[in-house]
Amino acid sequence: MAVTEEAVLRTLEGVQDPELGGNIVDLGMVTEVRISGDDVEVGVALTIAECPMRNQIENDALRRVRAMPGVENATIRITAMTKTQRAELMSVARRRVRERAQPTNVSPTTRVLAVSSGKGGVGKSTIAVNIAVALKESGFRVGLLDADIWGFSTPRMLGAEGRLEADTQTHLIQPTSASGIQLVSTGLIIDSEETALMWRGLMLSKALEQFLTQVEWGDLDYLVIDMPPGTGDIQMALSRMLPQAEMIVVTTPQRAAQKVAVRVADMARRSHMPIVGVIENMSGEVFGSGGGQDLADELGVPLIASVPLEADVVAGGDTGRPVAGDPESRAGRALTAATAKLVELVPPADLETCTGRIAKLLAELDEGAA
Ligand SMILES: Nc1ncnc2c1ncn2[C@@H]1O[C@H](COP(=O)(O)OP(=O)(O)OP(=O)(O)O)[C@@H](O)[C@H]1O
Ligand SMILES: [Mg+2]
Repeated sequence: MAVTEEAVLRTLEGVQDPELGGNIVDLGMVTEVRISGDDVEVGVALTIAECPMRNQIENDALRRVRAMPGVENATIRITAMTKTQRAELMSVARRRVRERAQPTNVSPTTRVLAVSSGKGGVGKSTIAVNIAVALKESGFRVGLLDADIWGFSTPRMLGAEGRLEADTQTHLIQPTSASGIQLVSTGLIIDSEETALMWRGLMLSKALEQFLTQVEWGDLDYLVIDMPPGTGDIQMALSRMLPQAEMIVVTTPQRAAQKVAVRVADMARRSHMPIVGVIENMSGEVFGSGGGQDLADELGVPLIASVPLEADVVAGGDTGRPVAGDPESRAGRALTAATAKLVELVPPADLETCTGRIAKLLAELDEGAA
């Protein structure tokens, strides 16, 4: 399938300028998209060429465009804005500051990692929970959203006993802290008939929407999302509401990558969600290995890790003590290493930005004017 300018722009909408709270397309920072065959060149104008955000924006844009189906080579050309462009950006920024236009309650500085797979039961929830734990152990502020609305398993895996409650002032739902992770799951709500009925009446995508818009997530470095099995609605809803979301694909080691790859690639294309990489799970003597690498090659993304099939993973999930971070556990070590690789691939947003300073200035100006 040939790449279109429209598809490239849609993909670039996932690149956030963290402190301005907008994507680079909306902010008018994309100056041109040039397509010739499977080569794509994108021009991005920054407020100043030495912007400290330069690397992040450049890498994010590159990673996203490169991950598009039909793209062989991608180039991002960074330029500095002209006076006129800068004035235009200022006016967009000003409008945003005024409107506080934030469609969700997830901060634009939060990196969103959706753990998905082409089929069920491969260990998505296990991987999502362990990555969240390992990120937390590395000192990051981490949220975990259980998007498996009816098949939730994260509360058990984290040994979470709290309940979700709404703040009396803001009416925003407060996540439960489990092992220092901000957790939201339907499993933390449906203990009364009344709430169960309320939630059951909602469509799945509506439930996800509530979790994204009505939860006080706060300032997180990472939001890990445990996706439900299958593709479809939730995936699309997620990318629509959180364009900065990126996908981690979990697969088992059986070498049937081709079929899974087609499904995953299709899912990624339809949702415009870039794939960060593949994690092979349950590798070892029983299921063999190599399927993860095959799938990664097929999708043109890195293999992040291969996590062995080990009994302690199941026990950890059942007792609320995930193996990540347990140096005695082989699987735990693999999961910790996987997380370190992820942080390398998707580093936390840099807060000290040039546009951020502009935004702050604008906010002050607005306050002064009010
Ligand atoms: N590396 C592993 N070694 C051993 N058991 C594992 C491993 N990873 C996951 N499991 C076990 O496999 C089962 C399925 O895992 P999990 O629930 O994480 O899969 P899932 O992909 O989220 O499933 P679903 O599609 O139903 O949401 C669980 O019992 C889990 O403990
Ligand atoms: Mg699951």
